[in-house]
Amino acid sequence: MEKRIKKVILPAAGLGTRFLPATKASPKEMLPIVDKPLIQYAVEEAINAGMEEFIIITGKNKRTIEDHFDAAYRLEEKLKSSGKDKLLEEIQKLNDVHFAYIRQKTALGLGHAIGCASPFVNNEPFAVILSDDVIDPEYPLLEEMAKIFYEKDAPVIALQEVPKNEVNRYGIIKGFKEGDIYRIEDLVEKPSIQKAPSNLAIIGRYILTPDIFQILQNLTPGAGGEIQLTDALKKLLKKRPIYGYLIKGERYDAGDKLGFIKATIDLALKNNELSEGLKEYIIKKARSIK
Ligand code: G1P
Repeated sequence: MEKRIKKVILPAAGLGTRFLPATKASPKEMLPIVDKPLIQYAVEEAINAGMEEFIIITGKNKRTIEDHFDAAYRLEEKLKSSGKDKLLEEIQKLNDVHFAYIRQKTALGLGHAIGCASPFVNNEPFAVILSDDVIDPEYPLLEEMAKIFYEKDAPVIALQEVPKNEVNRYGIIKGFKEGDIYRIEDLVEKPSIQKAPSNLAIIGRYILTPDIFQILQNLTPGAGGEIQLTDALKKLLKKRPIYGYLIKGERYDAGDKLGFIKATIDLALKNNELSEGLKEYIIKKARSIK
């Protein structure tokens, strides 16, 4: 098996029902936080971790994602002739990155979406990023996970402790600590509060090995009637160890309205052009809120 992680799968075929009506005709992955769509944060995060090739799983109404990562000659010419060099650099910076698009024809779940990429992955490890889990761009989560992968030669998934009453929104693991990381013993997709083996939730960053594809192909629907990646990982666990890495930086659930607003505020506060004005506004607003 080729060892280096070059490929990244970005599932983007979901219906985005939590954000309707905004996502009725345009993809959830294109919702912007400050000035960049969610999916671009995901791509840049992977590039910063040394990854190079992107496989985006799309579906109906997702064509703007392809347009977004395409070159935009007329716009580039215009910016060049009007001397807007910084903007030009910004929109050109991903022009050389390789993207492949695969259409998931029916929304059969995350596991099925990942399985659609199998013909493009060969016998190599790969990352999966769910772009509605936004990670603070200054925090090199994928890089840290890749280090564990190289050291252990085993799949690694990102974890975060969540409040007990939210376990039914996530894949939840059972595991024990091995030094700084978790050795996973079991995984359950969206368990009830009573059945959850812990409050350690799977966050949308995975580094996986290609043997997951065969499992995905033969998987029956699980939680919500969908083919679940968590169920495939549970089966993979019978063949090889899987590790969990508790994230140390900020993560936002940008698929949720409140999470999205929090991400927008935090990233705007880190933006040189916006932070002063926004701080002033927040302070003034906080004083007037009863
Ligand atoms: C997916 C996974 C789940 C994971 C979550 C993280 O669920 O199935 O295991 O905890 O992403 O965001 P979804 O949010 O797509 O329902």
